[in-house]
Amino acid sequence: MNQDDLKKQAAEAALDYVEGGVIGVGTGSTVNHFIDALAGIKNRIEGAVSSSEVSTERLKRHGIPVFDLNAVGELALYVDGADEANGRLELIKGGGGALTREKIVAAASRKFVCIADESKLVEVLGRFPLPVEVIPMARSYVARELVRLGGTPVWREGFVTDNGNLILDVQNLEITDPQGLEQQVNNIAGVVTVGIFALRPADVLILGSARGPRAIA
Ligand code: 5RP
Repeated sequence: MNQDDLKKQAAEAALDYVEGGVIGVGTGSTVNHFIDALAGIKNRIEGAVSSSEVSTERLKRHGIPVFDLNAVGELALYVDGADEANGRLELIKGGGGALTREKIVAAASRKFVCIADESKLVEVLGRFPLPVEVIPMARSYVARELVRLGGTPVWREGFVTDNGNLILDVQNLEITDPQGLEQQVNNIAGVVTVGIFALRPADVLILGSARGPRAIA
């Protein structure tokens, strides 16, 4: 099985958590498999709240209604992928640049089910460059502050988020205190969102593996 097969396996296993209503839906190649699988049971749900324009488009193509988060209140379930996860279900997200809306939908959901292939499980977060969404005029200032925190920020040139902002990918971090670093980076003026999901981690992590899907809760 290749990595994409394992992503699909984890995504399909997440269908077990769908109980109807409006589902929060994340972004990325693993979530694309989830959306495709969700289409097979779309008569059992009311629709979805989406974390990105690209997921919205895919949901609509499948005939799944997409709602504004403001119109639906708290969500029972949010399903999304991750770039890295540790055993405490703290995550790095934002490889696809959708981290801000992902963090909002995760915060507004009672249960966050993270889906990934097993290569995403790590001991210590940080080998994957940490995405930080910043207001354009603050790019250089935020980059200097991230250097003070020990990282090496790299501007994701040519990329603009769905919110009209920029992404800095921070290399060379060993994130031994995910909650602390999430708060520190959040406090830098000009930062919209940092891609550490530790203050609100996942509730369940489903990992696709050659031996079948494994859920950690
Ligand atoms: C997008 C994300 C994705 O969940 C993350 O990048 C994982 O992507 P993939 O499922 O393609 O490996 O955070 O902003």
